[in-house]
Amino acid sequence: MKITDFGYDGEGVGHMDGKVCFVPYTLMGEEVEVDIKKETSTFIKAFPNEVIIPSQKRITPPCPYYTSCGGCDFQHMSYEDEIELKKNILTRQLSKIQFAKDFNIVTSKSNYSYRNKVKFFCGDKGLSLKHAMSDKLVPIDNCLLAKDGINSVIDKINKFILRNKLTKIIDTITVRQVNNIICIKFDFLKEPSVDFTGLSLLLGNKVYLYKSINGKGIARVFGEEIELLENDLKYTFKIDAFRQVNDSVAEKMYQKVCDAVSGGVVLNAYSGAGLLSGLLCQKAIAVYGVELGKEENLSAESLKQKNNLDNLTNINGDCKDAIANLKIDFDFVVLDPPRVGCAREVCESINKVDATVIYISCNPASLVRDLGRLNTFNIESVTLFDMFPRTANFEVLTILKKKQN
Ligand SMILES: C[S@@+](CC[C@H](N)C(=O)[O-])C[C@H]1O[C@@H](n2cnc3c(N)ncnc32)[C@H](O)[C@@H]1O
Repeated sequence: MKITDFGYDGEGVGHMDGKVCFVPYTLMGEEVEVDIKKETSTFIKAFPNEVIIPSQKRITPPCPYYTSCGGCDFQHMSYEDEIELKKNILTRQLSKIQFAKDFNIVTSKSNYSYRNKVKFFCGDKGLSLKHAMSDKLVPIDNCLLAKDGINSVIDKINKFILRNKLTKIIDTITVRQVNNIICIKFDFLKEPSVDFTGLSLLLGNKVYLYKSINGKGIARVFGEEIELLENDLKYTFKIDAFRQVNDSVAEKMYQKVCDAVSGGVVLNAYSGAGLLSGLLCQKAIAVYGVELGKEENLSAESLKQKNNLDNLTNINGDCKDAIANLKIDFDFVVLDPPRVGCAREVCESINKVDATVIYISCNPASLVRDLGRLNTFNIESVTLFDMFPRTANFEVLTILKKKQN
């Protein structure tokens, strides 16, 4: 089958038996032999068994797990070609709402070793990631996307869980790197009868251990509270609170948000652990953060206390209801929702506000839907931030201005 186009996830697209066929890990112009994984009345999803005529742009993926582990999508092309593909994907999405202007692209300084967080599943052989085209687990001893500190603990965690026969009672293991500290959180399905002292001694005092049983609360087993100082803000790191995964791209993205704000009252919707709210407090008269997560909200409250941010109000609630209840004339609205995008009610509330809107999205499909709903605004600018190199994901920051009557 010949690959004649690309799909919204950057996969190759061809045709077979009169149906459109999506084939990941392929490039335009390639001739491939495929294995059908899913077939419906309108489309086929297939795995490329063999690339018969490769594109000149194809490169050898550096990761031995590539195409079995589902973590990466674009290791078979250069980073320059990946950026070009992401640009084309976003252009095509934006054309659905008749946006045809150029946009800026901010690339990542590192296109490997950038992730400060990896959530592993626990399989029979230890730390694993999900297979690309099934729920099968792929045991991993090194992830090229992860920061070195994360990779440095994988082998020791594996020995600990296998020696103590814990694989059946661990659901996931999250490993995060913050500065030079590594945090490991074990999500147990039931209380384990195991002593972590040996593991802690083996890993050293720069590795902190946490556990959670059946998702109920998090206990710190070894290590201290992690106090950070970022952009002049004192901040307590919480193992389960949202944090952008690529530190250097996140910094540039936050800078762009802050550059768009000057004075006034800001609504920071989907505000996470409060770091962006804290930065916005340095530019605005007042900032209202709205966040659903409990852990994130605790973090945002502690950031407020530690930095004496009297102009910050953290609201722990669902944006869907909380924003409609805020009877405030906002000058700026920051929206940074999860992949599903904003609830329809959020767009309806924002349409009534005479403000500049800064919409950060990690999913161009829900972004385009919401931009269509935010119909009292014009798009002023769009910037693609490549937060997730080697994967099909990226962030888009859109600045919207109120339409003049
Ligand atoms: C993409 S993160 C953005 C976080 C933050 N802006 C940052 O950069 O750290 C999305 C956040 O929205 C929160 N969230 C998800 N659904 C929500 C809802 N319905 N209402 C409020 N917050 C929500 C999540 O807990 C998460 O912290």
